[in-house]
Amino acid sequence: MAILRGISHPAGMFITAFFFYSLISTATALIDNGKLVSLNGLDYWAGGIAASELSPSRNINWNWSSADIVPLTIVKTNGTIFSSNELEKTISEFQSSDDVFSPGFMEVIFIEYNGDDHEIDHTVELNAEIPGNKLVLTSSKHNDHKPLLVHANLRKSLPNGPYFLSPRTGEIFKAFRVYSDHQLAFTEGAVSDENDGFMSLPALTEGAMTKSVAVPSRLYYTPTADKPLAGLRCGVKDIFDLKGLRTSGGNRAFYDLYPERNTTAPSIERLIDAGVVIVGKMGTVQFANGDNPTADWVDFHCPFNPRGDGYQAPGGSSSGPGAGIASYDWLDITIGSDTGGSMRSPGSMQGVFANRPSTGAIGLDNVLPLCKDLDTAGVFARDAETWSSTIHAWYPNLTNYEKYPERIFYQNASFPDHSTEAGSMLERFVQKVEKFLGSQREYVDIAERWEETHPKNAPSNVTDLLNTTYAILTSVGQYRSLALPFYADYAAENDGRHPFINPGPLKRWKWGQDNGGDSSYDVALRNKTVFREWWETDGYGKPSKEACSEGVYLYPYSKGEPQYRNVYFDAPTAPPMGFKDGRISNMADVPDFVVPVGEVSYNSTVSYKTEYMPVTMSFVAARGCDLMLANLIRDLQAVEIIKPVNTGSRMYP
Ligand SMILES: *[C@@H]1O[C@H](CO)[C@@H](O)[C@H](O)[C@H]1NC(C)=O
Ligand SMILES: *[C@@H]1O[C@H](CO)[C@@H](O)[C@H](O)[C@H]1NC(C)=O
Ligand SMILES: *[C@@H]1O[C@H](CO)[C@@H](O)[C@H](O)[C@H]1NC(C)=O
Ligand SMILES: *[C@@H]1O[C@H](CO)[C@@H](O)[C@H](O)[C@H]1NC(C)=O
Ligand SMILES: *[C@@H]1O[C@H](CO)[C@@H](O)[C@H](O)[C@H]1NC(C)=O
Ligand SMILES: *[C@@H]1O[C@H](CO)[C@@H](O)[C@H](O)[C@H]1NC(C)=O
Ligand SMILES: *[C@@H]1O[C@H](CO)[C@@H](O)[C@H](O)[C@H]1NC(C)=O
Ligand SMILES: *[C@@H]1O[C@H](CO)[C@@H](O)[C@H](O)[C@H]1NC(C)=O
Ligand SMILES: *[C@@H]1O[C@H](CO)[C@@H](O)[C@H](O)[C@H]1NC(C)=O
Repeated sequence: MAILRGISHPAGMFITAFFFYSLISTATALIDNGKLVSLNGLDYWAGGIAASELSPSRNINWNWSSADIVPLTIVKTNGTIFSSNELEKTISEFQSSDDVFSPGFMEVIFIEYNGDDHEIDHTVELNAEIPGNKLVLTSSKHNDHKPLLVHANLRKSLPNGPYFLSPRTGEIFKAFRVYSDHQLAFTEGAVSDENDGFMSLPALTEGAMTKSVAVPSRLYYTPTADKPLAGLRCGVKDIFDLKGLRTSGGNRAFYDLYPERNTTAPSIERLIDAGVVIVGKMGTVQFANGDNPTADWVDFHCPFNPRGDGYQAPGGSSSGPGAGIASYDWLDITIGSDTGGSMRSPGSMQGVFANRPSTGAIGLDNVLPLCKDLDTAGVFARDAETWSSTIHAWYPNLTNYEKYPERIFYQNASFPDHSTEAGSMLERFVQKVEKFLGSQREYVDIAERWEETHPKNAPSNVTDLLNTTYAILTSVGQYRSLALPFYADYAAENDGRHPFINPGPLKRWKWGQDNGGDSSYDVALRNKTVFREWWETDGYGKPSKEACSEGVYLYPYSKGEPQYRNVYFDAPTAPPMGFKDGRISNMADVPDFVVPVGEVSYNSTVSYKTEYMPVTMSFVAARGCDLMLANLIRDLQAVEIIKPVNTGSRMYP
């Protein structure tokens, strides 16, 4: 069925003359937004914009089918003879490497010669039956005894794979598999408008309260030096602008107020240039703050973490990207942001790879701000290989290091007791890292070290310096950069009204104003700088010539503890205070990369079964050492000290 965007008027039969004239005075703009079809029980979307066109060299019965579109497979060959054997081999490769292709696409097959030698004859010889096939077209010569083997030309060459063909016009449309977003990880499915922008996916399949997401065939993409990330399917937290779509920031009033964005965030454009395929926008804690699922997610529904019993908090604020990457095999990477843990928390709750990069590693124009001095953008993945390739291709201006630090900094108090399941798992992991790096951990105590070596004018307790620093920077920063302009724009459009804001951000913004507002911001920034300078000289973030960073600081990010989404917390009153391991990177602008270590059991009060939650470790290094860390973690996976994780309830089923 065709999905047409337009207006259907129930009383269309009784249009008055006046209405009729007003209609013809404006141009009719009927847009074909593609077709939602199902093929042998699977849902597909055929884009509304033709990718190419096929024309047969002689008249054939194009109307063997009464359908608007029919499935088509394009197969390229550079051999002299293309035989049934080769076809069978190619098709079985397609099936094993792509979730979009299915044998149903063989209704029509186009075999295109793509070799160099156009002087000699190239022949297609198909002797065996092709199941479900009704027509074979080929750009080569062929033995013409098959009635439906026809010579044809393709206007513009297309990669191998499944497509849809219009028998009426010869137009070819890309094939997208349509998946239901069962975990509510997405706010909107997105597809390219084939003109530098995006449109909301104009198709929906079944599912309670869910959106649909469409992914193109994997066969269309081959990584190259220029496009190392070609074909990686990627969802983006809905605080990054995509041209042609609105940005919600997890707030309905915000989504409704502002029009479609006219620019894609340059950070996302960089991923697209590297070959990434954007498939949608994903859930965020409102304005990237810190809501809990039970009561704080008033405007939007909180995405579902697939781990354990399926009713554990996904963490935040990059909740959708975290939940989505842990749920869907059809998704390869997701993009979120980290101001005070918004990558690392979902990374740890879902047990996936998640990085907070060095602050400033990539520009954040056209991204909703929480705090310009702390905001960063990171990537989630299920394996270190994909993750580290993305990190390499994405961040500009970082230097690569293949040598690793020899020092491991280990703060005893950060780790759970070794007699616990998580404690022994983390201990075994640290021992393996020691062996890999060929060094022993050094026991450190940050508060003690600070007390001994802190700058003269600073308090001797590091918590006295930093207790409210993060809280002020974010609450005052976002009030100024986002809340005030939003309030003004909303009031102007809505007769002076105030927009709805979730309790979390509302209380945080108020706390910032009650605690000094703008004047506190500068004090907080100074405190942050004091800590950063200390961390790089007398702390554990010193640079090194050979390995970028003098050492790696390890600490656990999650210990496999359940965090039920149906448990009520106290109502939010203020931003988070205090100083802990997770604040080091925020204050010192250094990379903090979370990796999966294992999973530990708990007795679920939901399923009444033993379930499992992730245990994860953070790797912290000196500022700018992101590529060294990415390489180290990739190499730890290569020797199986770290393992890729699965989607679903178990990371390691
Ligand atoms: C389909 O093709 C047949 C024979 O080639 C022709 O008689 C018939 O009119 C065509 N039908 C349509 C709808 O074009
Ligand atoms: C045909 O293509 C394959 C794969 O791209 C390549 O390995 C092979 O060398 C090519 N053969 C010829 C005859 O060009
Ligand atoms: C895009 O939108 C912004 C904000 O509405 C506006 O200032 C800018 O001129 C627009 N740019 C283009 C290229 O249309
Ligand atoms: C990378 O370096 C170039 C040249 O110095 C600079 O123009 C650009 O802004 C830098 N990018 C980032 C994200 O820092
Ligand atoms: C580390 O902490 C444990 C208790 O969790 C203690 O038994 C052990 O002695 C401590 N080790 C060091 C080196 O401080
Ligand atoms: C620093 O202050 C905090 C909060 O008052 C306290 O818990 C901690 O023990 C103090 N640290 C030291 C090293 O005195
Ligand atoms: C941190 O600041 C908050 C708010 O001012 C205060 O209530 C709390 O006691 C402080 N905590 C520490 C450890 O200083
Ligand atoms: C900054 O540090 C001073 C101590 O030097 C402390 O009293 C103050 O609360 C801190 N303020 C913020 C916002 O970080
Ligand atoms: C789960 O419950 C069983 C039976 O009550 C108990 O033996 C086991 O220790 C519990 N496991 C955990 C992880 O709490």
